Amino acid sequence: MTIRKAQGEVPVDQTLLDPSSAERSDDDDDAYDDADLSDAGQYRDAESEPLTGEGEGDGRRKDGRRNPEVGGVPPRSKSWARRWLIPTKFGCGLILLFFATVTLLLIAGGMWGLKMSPLDGQSPPWYPSPRGGTEKTWAKSYKKAHALVRQMTLVEKVNVTTGVGWSMGMCVGNTGPVERLGFPSLCLQDGPLGIRFADNITAFPAGVTVGATWNRELMYLRGKAHANEARRKGVNVILGPVVGPLGRTPLGGRNWEGFGSDPVLQAVAAAETIRGIQSEGVIATIKHFVGNEQEHFRQSWEWGRPNAISSNIDDRTLHELYVWPFAESVRAGVGSLMCSYNQVNNSYACQNSKLLNGILKDELGFQGFVQSDWLAQRGGVASALAGLDMNMPGDGLRWSDGKSLWGGELTKAVLNGSVTVERLDDMVTRIVATWYQLEQDDTTKWPELEEGPNFSSWTDEQMGLLHPGSDDKTIGVVNKFVDVQSEGTTKHGDLVRKIGAEGTVLVKNSDDFLPLDRKGPGNIGHPYRVGIFGDDSRNNPKGINSCKDRACSGGTLAMGWGSGAVEYPYLIAPLDALKEAFDQDTVTITSFPRNKLSVKEEKAMREQDLCLVFLSSNAGEGYVGVGDLRGDRNDLQPQNMGASLVKSVVKKCGNGKGDVVVVIHSVGPVLVEDYADIPNVKAILFANLPGQESGNSLVDVLFGEVNPSGRLPYTIGKSVKDYGPAAKIITATKQIVPQQNFSEGLLIDYRHFDYYNITPRYEFGFGLSYTKFQLSSPVLEYKDIPKRPLPYPRSGVLPPPRYDTTIPDPSTALFPAGFRKLRKYVYPYISSIKDISQGKPQYPPGFDVAHPSPLSPAGGGPGGNPDLFNAVAEVKVILSNLGPRDGSSVVQLYVSLPRNYVDEETGEKIDFPVRVLRNWQKIEVKKDGRQEVAMQVTRKDMSYWSTTRQNWVMPTKQGIKIEIGFSSRDIRETLMY
Ligand code: BGC
Repeated sequence: MTIRKAQGEVPVDQTLLDPSSAERSDDDDDAYDDADLSDAGQYRDAESEPLTGEGEGDGRRKDGRRNPEVGGVPPRSKSWARRWLIPTKFGCGLILLFFATVTLLLIAGGMWGLKMSPLDGQSPPWYPSPRGGTEKTWAKSYKKAHALVRQMTLVEKVNVTTGVGWSMGMCVGNTGPVERLGFPSLCLQDGPLGIRFADNITAFPAGVTVGATWNRELMYLRGKAHANEARRKGVNVILGPVVGPLGRTPLGGRNWEGFGSDPVLQAVAAAETIRGIQSEGVIATIKHFVGNEQEHFRQSWEWGRPNAISSNIDDRTLHELYVWPFAESVRAGVGSLMCSYNQVNNSYACQNSKLLNGILKDELGFQGFVQSDWLAQRGGVASALAGLDMNMPGDGLRWSDGKSLWGGELTKAVLNGSVTVERLDDMVTRIVATWYQLEQDDTTKWPELEEGPNFSSWTDEQMGLLHPGSDDKTIGVVNKFVDVQSEGTTKHGDLVRKIGAEGTVLVKNSDDFLPLDRKGPGNIGHPYRVGIFGDDSRNNPKGINSCKDRACSGGTLAMGWGSGAVEYPYLIAPLDALKEAFDQDTVTITSFPRNKLSVKEEKAMREQDLCLVFLSSNAGEGYVGVGDLRGDRNDLQPQNMGASLVKSVVKKCGNGKGDVVVVIHSVGPVLVEDYADIPNVKAILFANLPGQESGNSLVDVLFGEVNPSGRLPYTIGKSVKDYGPAAKIITATKQIVPQQNFSEGLLIDYRHFDYYNITPRYEFGFGLSYTKFQLSSPVLEYKDIPKRPLPYPRSGVLPPPRYDTTIPDPSTALFPAGFRKLRKYVYPYISSIKDISQGKPQYPPGFDVAHPSPLSPAGGGPGGNPDLFNAVAEVKVILSNLGPRDGSSVVQLYVSLPRNYVDEETGEKIDFPVRVLRNWQKIEVKKDGRQEVAMQVTRKDMSYWSTTRQNWVMPTKQGIKIEIGFSSRDIRETLMY
């Protein structure tokens, strides 16, 4: 039986690797000794400029401590042990011995900050992995999956769980099929704002822009349009949306892929996006679970050291901040979840059993499958037991090494008992059930998926290699150039334009300077002279897609860089849109498309009546740098000398008398202190990252076609220090496992500003309109009387599917006779039965099937205990439009739990943020109109996570404050619950 279509030579066989153990296969020497690892694999070709670094070891913990998550190593064959002793490997042994000794000495000396890990900073074990199939909304899919999976052989099951290797298929991730039973290879493709590496697609606005719209419908529609394109390109799984990073630090390189620095904003936006994506039959992936809040050190080897950073997050903060959006994604039915590169509490997120088994699969009741971020899997057995269901892209500890930790190694692990048959069955069933859940088996409903991907991530040519990562030279038609951008009323570009305009936040508008008149103000005795300044005003002269994965500076910024970027089909630059928008008979436009102006240009600047200045601030994913930026931002200033440009324009525009409008395209907050208070700076707009229709979206707002209704999805402080210590990116450390303690707990972004009473420049939730709104007549209705501190006990769930758990005959897993293997291609087969080691498997501490970890009282339904999502109150308020035009407002609901609160049962003193966003409604009201706004508040909204009770607790003895307003600092009405 042949499983893979690909044929070639076998990759070097290796022992199932466990990065926490001090043992390894000698076949890996080359990988470990190569200090100059690059992540070039993320690019499509070899011309990339990846980060490189000095290797420091062998990819696993060297601190001598035993990682509680990993523990057991699979039994190894005698030949493996013997190999350690043979002289040819003596050099390698010496190196390891050296590292081990150095590490022990360092620990003994208490150096290198290993002692910095919090005392209780290790993630507790949670085993065995809860099986899927317990939730009634998934019951039919699980039934079908059971019927299919029970027919699968061991290697067929393994094939479904394992990626075939980087660039072995057309997509960034490709799994193995089970052709015999009609289960396809799945195509997994980035990313959150469009289809990466594809032609004829749409470059949608980035997550941060969508967050800034606060418009649930647009969030849904963007997801839907994106997935519509993905399906027509043959993509099964979209690698988005992003809610991690959450935005702990405003400098975080990938914050822009998510929706803003608040868990509820992220949660709602993600849930709507997921619903939109999945309404088109495409599986959404919520990522990155969890704590990947900075790019520096996010990933093993990328930053010159073997281990990824450990985000040390306490249980309460994890629940109330970082896991919250993932919970809502599960509630929205998300099919897949991607675990992150980093460690959490010193255990890799993709093998952290507390996170995956405990929180995600038990407490949140996740029914879909967990896939690893690309190479975030650092152990084979450990990750399987901890709840990982699919490894991506299939390779091992290094890019494109073909030495999978699963594939044949997983087959061995099942055959030698290290991974239970039950666990493997659950992994496969979860993947297959998700495929059924999205009805991808229905070829009449989604015919495009039957054909597989019709584009190649690796070439723009029509003909190309079918398995470019291997030695196979077979070519075929790989790009069919299917245009998926849609036409007419459903043209996706129109949606982009709309989101871009609604995601533009007007933060200053002195004397109602905006909207502009296309003809200029008139009556000034000469044509209205408009100067347009800045590199960000026009397109990159080298081409809009000239930098790989958009990693460059130059030209207007409409998306950040990295795997979350796409090829622009076109990009409307602000300058071009403005030239079109102004009336050429009455307005003269002069363009100054640079950040550093010549003397002549400075002189010309003095002759302008209106100066529009464009600034930008870029960031992206850590596998590539731009100038001195290594993923994360270095500061909150505009980049490329934008700060001096704006200062100069403000001073000299119209000889100091000209009007100035500042437009900022950025990945997050940018400081405006240098000019925000200067009177001739009439308007400031945060246009975020608008996607391909950038200029059109902006023009719609500037000229009043669209009344601005964007609200800040983050706080704009007066300095980076205002954000507190959490803002600091760890950029240099001698720690072998960089330790990042999230000691600020819940106090990030506006919660920090409010708690420490720091006045921001523009607060979270803030944004101006061309009209005026008012709130009145607030009413609070109780839904749940009497008040109870705890949710009802969790109720029973459906029994998961059962299979025969007998370990299969190893001979069924052998490579078929005469099989031609491709180099580095990942197969599920084993080469010899002798590779199956004998003996009793050792499991990680805490892994005892007879004594499973106790179920969480906070679980029992999708996203958590269903009672948590019951409304306990409803707030109603009247929104009136008192201004000169129609417009939309965002009515925001914040909850403040009682001050000086003592837990009613445990007696613990519990501190709370001043207020937290819990709901909002965006409502359009006609001029002079009024409308009732109703918002529910759930039990979870009014609760905190008690680490002692391990449950959500709602204070019942003291009142809970509910505030309604137009931003986190503009509170108009207060009610008590
Ligand atoms: C990123 C993921 C992405 C994956 C595949 C990783 O480097 O962190 O977000 O989905 O690559 O491109």
